[in-house]
Amino acid sequence: MKDFTFVLSTRIEFGRGYIHRTGEVVKETGAKKVIVITDQGLIKAGIAGKAIDSMAHAGIDYVVYDGVQPNPKDVDCIAAGEMAKEFGADFVVAIGGGSSMDTAKAVAALITNPVTLPEIMKPYKVPIAPAPLLCIPTTAGTGSEVTSFSVITLTQEQRKSCMFDEKLRPEIALIDPELLLGVPDSIVASTGIDALTHAIEAYTCKISTPITDAFALQAIRYIGRSLRTLLYQRTYESAEEMMMASLMAGIAFGFSDIASVHALAEAIGGYYDTPHGVANSIFLPVVFEYDIPADVEKHKDIALALGVSPVGKSDREIAQGAVEWIETLSRDVGIPTLKELGYIEPERFEQFADVCMINVSTPNNCRRVDKQRYIELFEATFNR
Ligand SMILES: [Fe+2]
Repeated sequence: MKDFTFVLSTRIEFGRGYIHRTGEVVKETGAKKVIVITDQGLIKAGIAGKAIDSMAHAGIDYVVYDGVQPNPKDVDCIAAGEMAKEFGADFVVAIGGGSSMDTAKAVAALITNPVTLPEIMKPYKVPIAPAPLLCIPTTAGTGSEVTSFSVITLTQEQRKSCMFDEKLRPEIALIDPELLLGVPDSIVASTGIDALTHAIEAYTCKISTPITDAFALQAIRYIGRSLRTLLYQRTYESAEEMMMASLMAGIAFGFSDIASVHALAEAIGGYYDTPHGVANSIFLPVVFEYDIPADVEKHKDIALALGVSPVGKSDREIAQGAVEWIETLSRDVGIPTLKELGYIEPERFEQFADVCMINVSTPNNCRRVDKQRYIELFEATFNR
């Protein structure tokens, strides 16, 4: 067994309708002035309003930054950070998917650190503890509500960069599964496969531990039995299991790592702005298949957890069943292939492979990957 540390400092509040408890929970912390970080879609849908109303009811003073964009941008972190400082915010509430939560982590850091965003991003570390953060996830995918990472797109450089510091971990994760019931199918599917990718990469990567393995496998089981039910039947029970899967996968990869699927997805996401979950859905089957020989046992475990039948199959064939599970789901919900995105330029694969090689998670992929292999994985995915 490898040496490891596991301290989950985030308080988790999980329950139906809990978004209405936001004000009460924030008030308990002693916060006086809150900046809410969200996007316009959640404002228009009235979801952010539920949390905001409960804060108003609790007598908490707040401002709202609703300009968060998919693949969260440095420019939004800077604008929201300035808004927070002008307002004198001492607490941050994030409402949304990974983009809102990752933006909020950067804003929380900018409130307390007398430096600019590029200065924090460069050493990947946050010198002074950020303002406390409460996250309310509205998708089941990112797990950012329990992780100490924030992935931000540097708009000038057209690439993603990662802040990684234990101090970025949210103080409170307020999970209300009911919020998932109104999410469009395409988002449920792509974010659900993002959560699955977190769990799979956490489970198979070189620095997994027995604790992260337990969280990852349970997350995969929940996804195996509830992602389709949530998509096609929208039951509350499936929403509960998907929210729990996303959170558990977040804990798993937060204390182990992600790997080459994310390296590939972030390379094209940083350049073309491809939605993160869609990019992961596209690369996951190809990388999974490539990785099977490096650890047949663990890839078989994943397939079984997804519900793949083992009858009459060798371990490798069972593992291969997971590839089909993922590809069938992607097809059913209309996730495009890499080619179908329509804007991918194969002549850039070498450039993207360079980006993959500097991804901090690349060395932890269970099977060795070098630049040439990344080019081949791009080509194999493009021609699939
Ligand atoms: Fe992800």
